[in-house]
Amino acid sequence: MRVIQGVDVEHSPVKSLEEVTAIPRGTGKGRFQLARPGSYALVQDWAPPVGEDGVEVSLYFQPHLPQAGHLQAVMSTLDVQSKSGFAVIINENGVVDFWIGTGTTVDVVSTEFKPAQKRWVEMQLAFVGAQFTASLCPIAQVAEKAIDSQQVDVELSGRAHVLQPSPLLFAGSFAETTTTPFPRVTNFFNGRIDSPTIKTIGGSRILVQFDFSRNMSEDTIRDVSGGGHDGVLVNAPTRAVTGYNWDATEADWTKATSGYGAIHFHDDDLDDAGWDTDVSITIPNDARSGVYCVEVTSTDGKTSDMVTFFVRPTKETTAKVGAQVALVLSTFTYLAYANEQLADTSRSSHIDVGPGFDMASALHTEDFHRMQRRRDLGLSNYDVHNDDSGVTFSSAKRPILNIRPGYIMWAFSRPRELSAESMMIGFLEREGIPYDIITDHDLHTGGAAVLAPYNTVMTGCHPEYPSIESYNAYENYAKQGGNLMYLGGNGFYWVSATDPARPWRLEVRRGDQGVRSYTLPGGERFMSLNGTQGGLWRTRGRSSHFLFGVAFCGEGAGPGVPFKRCDASFDPQFKWMFDGIPDDELIGEFGLGGGASGDEIDSFDIACGSPTNAVVVATTPGHPDDFGIAPECTGFPIIDTLGTQTREIRSDIVYYETNAGGAVFSVGSINWYCSLGWDDYQNNVAKLTGNVIKEFLRREKKG
Ligand SMILES: [Fe+2]
Repeated sequence: MRVIQGVDVEHSPVKSLEEVTAIPRGTGKGRFQLARPGSYALVQDWAPPVGEDGVEVSLYFQPHLPQAGHLQAVMSTLDVQSKSGFAVIINENGVVDFWIGTGTTVDVVSTEFKPAQKRWVEMQLAFVGAQFTASLCPIAQVAEKAIDSQQVDVELSGRAHVLQPSPLLFAGSFAETTTTPFPRVTNFFNGRIDSPTIKTIGGSRILVQFDFSRNMSEDTIRDVSGGGHDGVLVNAPTRAVTGYNWDATEADWTKATSGYGAIHFHDDDLDDAGWDTDVSITIPNDARSGVYCVEVTSTDGKTSDMVTFFVRPTKETTAKVGAQVALVLSTFTYLAYANEQLADTSRSSHIDVGPGFDMASALHTEDFHRMQRRRDLGLSNYDVHNDDSGVTFSSAKRPILNIRPGYIMWAFSRPRELSAESMMIGFLEREGIPYDIITDHDLHTGGAAVLAPYNTVMTGCHPEYPSIESYNAYENYAKQGGNLMYLGGNGFYWVSATDPARPWRLEVRRGDQGVRSYTLPGGERFMSLNGTQGGLWRTRGRSSHFLFGVAFCGEGAGPGVPFKRCDASFDPQFKWMFDGIPDDELIGEFGLGGGASGDEIDSFDIACGSPTNAVVVATTPGHPDDFGIAPECTGFPIIDTLGTQTREIRSDIVYYETNAGGAVFSVGSINWYCSLGWDDYQNNVAKLTGNVIKEFLRREKKG
C-alpha cells in the first residue's frame, strides 16, 4: 500500500491507502521469531599450538550491574564438551567465580570477591599445570576507599586445559553452566572491559593483546600483539567510553593518548535482529517516492500490522510526478525513538514531560502493547540499558514497532512523527501539489544535491536529530536560494551520526544540556562513529535559530494553545500569507493535540542568533503550567519555569527572505501537523500552510 494519509482518529482526515497493484496480494506462511540481544566480542582461533607451559591472563573490568539476575561472563574460552578453556564469571550473587577445564572436569573456583558497581578491577590470572592463581585488585576512585582485593591460589583437580583451540569471548560465553553448552553466546556481561592480554607464563610470548581504543568506529577489535588475532564486536556495544586509566585531562577520545581503551557491553544491546525471511516483495522500478507499507493480516483475521518502509525518488519518478516540493521524513528521529521504552517506570529514563503528566491517562493502543511485549527488539536512544547506562545506538536492522502510518504516540495521545507527517502527505495530495518524499538518510548521503530539484523543502514535525551532513544539506540548499518550511518543533536539536559502512546504525550522545532522559558520564560526549562532539547542536554553535529563526524552548504533554497574529503580520507584504483567514481569528484553536502550539515548541530569539531580518508574524500568548522550560534556556538558579511564569515558553511563527532570494517559514511546534489535519484540513492552519507553499511555488526559485 502507498500511504496517502495514515491517521484514523476522531476529527482526523480520512485514512487513505492506495493499493500497489503491481505487487500481487498473497498468503504466505509466517512464524514466530525472536531477536537475540546481548553484545560481546568474539575472537576465533586465538590459542597457540599446545605445548606451552601455561598462560597468564590480565584485563580490567568494571561491572555496571553486578547482580543482573543471571550469570555474567567477563571472558570465556570454556568449551563444556571438551572440558577445556576457562571462564571468568560474576554469579547471580555478584561474586566472581572461575570455571576451569581440566580435560576431565570443569572445576569451579569460588571467591568471596564482590566487585563494586561502576568501579574498576584489575584482574590477573595464571594457569600453570594444575596450579591456578588469581589476583583481583579494585582500583580506588579518586580518594574513595576501595574494597579489599583478593588473591586466589588453588590446586585444580587436574592440569588446566586452557590452550585448546576454541573461540575467545569477551562479555559472554558459549557455556551456559559448567556442564551445559549453549548453541549461541549467553551469560552476557553488563559493564566495561579494558586491555585484555594473554601471555605465556613469564610473559615470554604475548599470545593476544587487545587495544580497544583502536579502530574505534568499527566493529573490529585489534590484536596488537602481532599475532593477527583480530576479533569482531557483535550487537554494537558502546565504544569511545572511559577506561580504567582515564584521568580527565582530555575528554575527546580522538585527541587522548590514553584512557579510552574500554568497551561497554550490555545484555540488551541489539544491532541486527537477524530474522529469517518468510515473504519478500519487489518494489517496481517506477514506484513514486513515498511512505509504503505491507499490510499483513493473520488468516484468522484476528491480528494485523503495517510493515512500513520508504521509497526514495529517482530522477525519472520526480520528473513523472512533476515534484517541486519535497517533504523530508525525519528518519533519524524515527530511529532515535525506535521501540522506545519510556513507559517503563523501572528505568531511570522513564518519561517525564512536565507537570501534570499522568502516565496512566496515556492512550495505550495495540501498537503500544506490542512495543511493551517485544522487549527482545532492542531499545531506543531515549532509554537506559538494564545497567542504567544511556543507550547511544539505535538500529534499523530490526522490526521497529512505532514506525506505523497511523501510530498514536501514547505519551501525548496523538499522532507524532511519521503518523503526523502522513497528514502532510494527505494535505499535498488534497491540494494537488506534486511532491516527493525524501528522508534524513538521503540528505545525509546526498547533501544539498538531493534538495536541488525542488522549489520548496519542508520538514517533518520533529526533525530533532540531524547529522552534520543532513544539517549542511538544509543550510546549503537555503544558501542556494531554496525555500524552506520548518513545520515542526524541537528540530535540529541533538547531534547524530551514522556511517557509510553501517547506515542502519544511529549514534546519539546526550549530556550537559537539553531535555534528556539520561546524561552520559563526562568524557563520553564524542561520537564513536565519526569522532565529532555530540550533545546539542546549540552547544556545537549550530542552534536552529540561525537557519530556521526559532529553537526549542519548552514542552508539555497537555493540550496545545493557538497562535495570535502579531502586529507586523498586518503589513501588506504578508497579505498573501493570511489570505482567506479573517484578521481577528486565532490560528489553530483546534487540533488532535489541542491548539497548534503544543508538545515541543520553539521560539525566536535575536540574542541566540535568529536572523535580523526575520519577522515574527504570530506568537502564542501563553501556555498553561503543564508546559515547562527547556534547561538550556535558563542560566541562573532555575525559577519561573512554567507556562504562566515566563514568556520564554512560546511558539513563534517566523518568516524571512534569504540572501540568495529564497525564504524560510517556521512554525516552532510539533503540534502543527496535528492541527493541519483537523476536520479534514478544513481549518486556518491548513489555509496558512497552503498559502505559504503556493506563494513559494509562484515565485521562481532563485539560485
Ligand atoms: Fe524528541
